[in-house]
Amino acid sequence: MTHTIRKAVFPVAGLGTRFLPATKAVPKEMLTVVDKPVIQYIVDEAREAGIEHFIFVTGRNKGVIEDHFDMAYELEATLKSRNKTAELELLGAQLPMAGSTSFTRQQAPLGLGHAIWCARDIIGDEPFAVLLPDMIMRSKKGCLAQMLEVFRATGDNVIAVEECEPDMAHQYGIVGVGEARGKAFEITQMVEKPAKGTAPSNFYISGRYVLQPEIFKFLAMQEKGAGGEIQLTDAMLKLMSRQKFWGMKYEGETFDTGSKIGFLAANVAYGLSRPELSDGFRAEIERLLRKA
Ligand code: UTP
Repeated sequence: MTHTIRKAVFPVAGLGTRFLPATKAVPKEMLTVVDKPVIQYIVDEAREAGIEHFIFVTGRNKGVIEDHFDMAYELEATLKSRNKTAELELLGAQLPMAGSTSFTRQQAPLGLGHAIWCARDIIGDEPFAVLLPDMIMRSKKGCLAQMLEVFRATGDNVIAVEECEPDMAHQYGIVGVGEARGKAFEITQMVEKPAKGTAPSNFYISGRYVLQPEIFKFLAMQEKGAGGEIQLTDAMLKLMSRQKFWGMKYEGETFDTGSKIGFLAANVAYGLSRPELSDGFRAEIERLLRKA
């Protein structure tokens, strides 16, 4: 069994209906937090964790994501002719190595589980990571890098978990908590959006997974779950009867940029943490708060 994770899947085929009309023509993953598209934060986290191959499951209207991770030849030629070296370096630093990205299409948004299944042939027979591209995880050591420590120690499936208010558990995928091991614990149960008052804990699955390739057998069944969608949680639950899953208590902050509040909060947090912006931005926020 290999204890290395080389490949990561970014499911970017959702419709982003909570962000209409912005997402009518622009994918929600391309909305910007300060000056970078959301997807760039997620890819950077994967790169920091040592991921070598970035697999995007896209859909209609998502072509600009491909362009974002490609060379912009005309733009770069123009920047060069104008001696804009800082901008050129910025673009160069975010460009993935040739051959390290793959794009496959999910023709219809049938659910997260179905989106991951679309990447099966590109993944092949090795463990891999999944990063939800609308969850920005901000921490000293990236969330995926934290998870890979648990993966290297156990060789099992690992899911990042965080605590929510108990009365909000019905909005999330919730896990049952078993035996602890360092900052991880064995997962005993998983339930997607449990009915109020029935959640096995208040630890929710927060958008990062390290999975064994056997998950594809269960995703291939294409069974519909909560919301009539093919859910990743349902396939993980089936795999749990054969393999161990660990919940890793993620240390850091999470911004759900798929929700308006989360998206706005991410812009404020990242804006305030940028040295060249923080003073001016803070003054502007304080002025607006006084007026509100
Ligand atoms: P979400 O349900 O949060 O995203 O799925 P959404 O459907 O795009 O957003 P809303 O609810 O309509 O506003 C979580 C992630 O899974 C991807 C989405 O792109 C998102 O990043 N996803 C979801 C797929 O790739 N395919 C699907 O069929 C469903």
